[in-house]
Amino acid sequence: MNGIVEINDLKELARRRVPKMFFDYADSGSWTQSTYRANEEDFAKIKLRQRVLVDMTNRTLESTMIGQKVSMPVALAPTGLTGMQHADGEILAAQAAEAFGVPFTLSTMSVCSIEDIAESTTAPFWFQLYVMRDRDFVGRLIDRAKAAKCSALVLTLDLQILGQRHKDIRNGLSTPPKFTPKHIYQMVTRPRWCLGMMGTKRRTFRNIAGHAKGVTDLSSLSTWTAEQFDPQLSWKDVAWIKERWGGKLILKGILDKEDALMAAQTGADAIIVSNHGGRQLDGAPSSISVLAEIADAVGDRIEVHFDGGIRSGQDVLKALCLGAKGTYIGRSFLYGLGALGKDGVTLALEIIRKELDTTMALCGKRDIKDVGPELLYQPRNAG
Ligand SMILES: Cc1cc2nc3c(=O)[nH]c(=O)nc-3n(C[C@H](O)[C@H](O)[C@H](O)COP(=O)(O)O)c2cc1C
Repeated sequence: MNGIVEINDLKELARRRVPKMFFDYADSGSWTQSTYRANEEDFAKIKLRQRVLVDMTNRTLESTMIGQKVSMPVALAPTGLTGMQHADGEILAAQAAEAFGVPFTLSTMSVCSIEDIAESTTAPFWFQLYVMRDRDFVGRLIDRAKAAKCSALVLTLDLQILGQRHKDIRNGLSTPPKFTPKHIYQMVTRPRWCLGMMGTKRRTFRNIAGHAKGVTDLSSLSTWTAEQFDPQLSWKDVAWIKERWGGKLILKGILDKEDALMAAQTGADAIIVSNHGGRQLDGAPSSISVLAEIADAVGDRIEVHFDGGIRSGQDVLKALCLGAKGTYIGRSFLYGLGALGKDGVTLALEIIRKELDTTMALCGKRDIKDVGPELLYQPRNAG
């Protein structure tokens, strides 16, 4: 597509097409954003070993994540408010992922509901759960994910209270959006986005509105979300959630090897090494810098997945070499969505696939399942 060759091109187009408050919501980390920046910067420090005169024919990127076949080990991460990057954003992203053969993960805080996605796709998708104080509502959310035939539950562990994001405060971001002159200006200067929004009925948190007690209109909804995330969530809760769900369970938001070992004891199917894309604890290490030690600590007790800072297929390869069996992209697909809707998500996936495939070949490998630390360059005097 015209002039778009890398994820950054999609980001710049999204910046021009998505109202500032929603573009900034995606392109932000907490406080000083040091962890958000480190997620990307630390990838660049890892060097690859170039190999030559190795047969490069018949390459394959096919693999599995939690036993499910994937055309490449890259899933779409759960992201809240995706339907504000583009009208019906979650439906479009899920359809693009299905056509591509990779998993789509729907956030609890999505605009389109579990049922919206189930009606608009045929492949099973994954559902990400935030645990609320209202356990009855949580139980019903799990049941709705089961009824929609979701093939994995992704339980997020690292957001029981919210890391402060300065851009959101300065922009006055709220859900639902306020209609002050500043916000109206931001929206009307993005006519394509406005047209899309006028053409859909999906403009609020549809997993929640009408399903949780006391949430009947938009204003009560925002109060409800601020009060509802449960700061007492504990390892014991993982047990009842696992029991109630009864299917594949992925624990998201592990950044410390002690926690990884605890997670392995829960009997969950996988962990995601993640710092929430640098949106929670600013000052925490980048995800890629802790991946190898966590993967080494858990060994083969639990499958290790990874997210944070992936902006190219090279980043995916590096994460796989350092011990991840699967990876997730957040902003890389959101930028595609904001730029070009469903085609933009497909394009983001295509860009990553091509970079991953070529890089793997130039490192002398033909099968993504065979890559390991031997593909990374270690300078002789490295400690
Ligand atoms: C705009 C945005 C919204 C997010 N919302 C959620 C969410 O609702 N639930 C969740 O578990 N993670 C959420 N995340 C974190 C992502 O799942 C993922 O961990 C992160 O985006 C990975 O980093 P990357 O964006 O650099 O790929 C969100 C991330 C972004 C950028």
